[in-house]
Amino acid sequence: MPLTRSVSVTSLSGLDEWDEEFDLEDAVLFEIAWEVANKVGGIYTVIQTKARLTSEEWGENYFLVGPYTESNVRTQVELIEPTNGVLRRTIDKMNASGCKFAAQCDEPPCILAHFHEWLAGLGLVLCRNRRLPVATIFTTHATLLGRYLCAGNVDFYNNLSQFNVDKEAGDRQIYHRYCIERAAAHCTHVFTTVSQITAIEAEHLLKRKPDLVTPNGLNVKKFSAMHEFQNLHAQSKARIQEFVRGHFYGHLDFNLDKCLFFFIAGRYEFCNKGADIFLEALARLNYLLRVNHSEVTVVAFFIMPARTNNFNVETLKGQAVRKQLWDTAHAVKEKFGKKLYESLLVGQLPDVSKMLDKEDFTMMKRAIFSTQRHSQPPVCTHNMLEDSSDPILTCIRRIGLFNGSADRVKVIFHPEFLSSTSPLLPMDYEEFVRGCHLGVFPSYYEPWGYTPAECTVMGIPSVSTNLSGFGCFMEEHIADPSAYGIYILDRRFRSIDESCHQLTSFLFQFCQQSRRQRIIQRNRTERLSDLLDWRYLGRYYISARHMALAKAFPDTYCYEPQEPPSTQGFRYPRPASVPPSPALSRHSSPHHSEAEDEDDERYDEDLEAEKDRQNIRQPFSLPLRNKGALPYSMAASEGD
Ligand code: UDP
Ligand code: G6P
Ligand code: GLC
Repeated sequence: MPLTRSVSVTSLSGLDEWDEEFDLEDAVLFEIAWEVANKVGGIYTVIQTKARLTSEEWGENYFLVGPYTESNVRTQVELIEPTNGVLRRTIDKMNASGCKFAAQCDEPPCILAHFHEWLAGLGLVLCRNRRLPVATIFTTHATLLGRYLCAGNVDFYNNLSQFNVDKEAGDRQIYHRYCIERAAAHCTHVFTTVSQITAIEAEHLLKRKPDLVTPNGLNVKKFSAMHEFQNLHAQSKARIQEFVRGHFYGHLDFNLDKCLFFFIAGRYEFCNKGADIFLEALARLNYLLRVNHSEVTVVAFFIMPARTNNFNVETLKGQAVRKQLWDTAHAVKEKFGKKLYESLLVGQLPDVSKMLDKEDFTMMKRAIFSTQRHSQPPVCTHNMLEDSSDPILTCIRRIGLFNGSADRVKVIFHPEFLSSTSPLLPMDYEEFVRGCHLGVFPSYYEPWGYTPAECTVMGIPSVSTNLSGFGCFMEEHIADPSAYGIYILDRRFRSIDESCHQLTSFLFQFCQQSRRQRIIQRNRTERLSDLLDWRYLGRYYISARHMALAKAFPDTYCYEPQEPPSTQGFRYPRPASVPPSPALSRHSSPHHSEAEDEDDERYDEDLEAEKDRQNIRQPFSLPLRNKGALPYSMAASEGD
């Protein structure tokens, strides 16, 4: 006999409690998305990072469904025979009939199907249209129309309630896709989206208010050594420095030790992702660093995939030249070392003037000769197919950031996602992020925005905006975000020029920090990781699933509507110690070295972390199936 279980209703403002024992034994969960084992953007990250937690809950009754792409299957999927009898029979039937069957069997379990985004939404509409006994969830990670309107320079947020949505979709030739999205949102049992800001957008553009916000989480790596992520930063930074040495060969007239690496990454939506204002702010920063005679050089990376015809020769040559210099130095060092050894063996101090012979000098001269170059270091690493109309390149031509030697800001556009097998910059994205100093994501349209969230869990400060789901979420939960390295740009209430000015001042302030201050700031950033862990945020997905099951199978599961709890949102307080500033640091001694600084920082930071730990009541330690699950605004008040 089916058990009747209770689950609460959820609302946008919070999750209510659900019963500890929500019995899922007779239920099967399918999660369907175009980005299952198919990387396009952030939805892939949602599915991939959440998979472990979801399978811990659903075990063998959890199935992900995505498009079949031979190369992805080969690299990301382990082929196995299904152990679940129902599923095996279904697959056999589908195979036998050329995939025409859907889930028809004699003793069906309670099926829960979670569809992501409009592409998968079509399946949801068909399920409902054919009245299949399936509980459904539709999660939208953006609205199609919102994305298109924002990309088209519309004053989006001030006109949300005014748009004639059918006309706008028709004008942009996305009417059919828009209809699928809207139909899926309307006919699903539970409709969710990834942030409050997108919930409001969905209410206006899709005409249904989401039942629940399911913020995106990550798998947070816990290192046993507290400073391990700082060591990883230093290691990855050294690899980026190697790349920079090659890229700027012949023009290495700046101090790499005082060089900061900024980056923007993601799908190539020039205005939506804020690449436009980042470039403009870089041009202003370049001016400020120059007039202030700053010793800092900024290298800004743009990692946004565009259509290319492979790497360009000049960029590849840069790495080859660097390698040649390295090999030459290594060969000379070997010979030098051998002679030194021979001399010591016979009890003599070496005659330094004879340590290098003519051949060595010829070899070194040849290597130096190869570093001569008459052109500036390239801005773009690849041959672009649409070079003359490319928005980043067009903007760079206009603002004149051409990697000249007087420029304190250099730009490198890498129009391809990063990969550890690249002959140019052989690093995967995570390693690259760890090696950078600041991620800059000044998006205008960003339902969530994984890129700054990923920076945070790796302890790398970032810029996001109050128009991104992530930025709003952090603003809600941290009393002084910038002290933690979370710079939130105001793109909602300021003009583009004012936002750009604000971004420039964030960047300039960042450039004025000492190494000591950067290390302290990274430690603080990393301390926010728990807030973004699926172990905590996964509960919103759990709640959405319980809701859908209760709506679709009321005889088996039920929920009791309750008022949302009147808890104040949890906020990370200001860091316990005063913010690091040059005036407060202990540089009274002229002989105080940077190495000593680092030791001091460890000590200071450990103390600061300890004080903070005492100040913050950990809001994340509740078990997942806890009665009285934490609401969207976490259940603890500041200073608790
Ligand atoms: N990303 C990546 N390789 C790169 C650059 C970005 O895998 O070289 C990933 C990044 O880790 C992030 C995703 O692309 O998870 C972008 O997601 P986001 O939510 O920021 O934006 P979206 O592209 O979905 O709009
Ligand atoms: C980490 C490492 C230090 C290194 C520092 C560089 O903290 O543990 O050894 O000196 O990073 O920081 P920076 O901000 O200059 O890259
Ligand atoms: C979409 C959004 C992005 C979000 C991602 C995952 O692609 O553009 O902001 O982070 O989905 O939800």
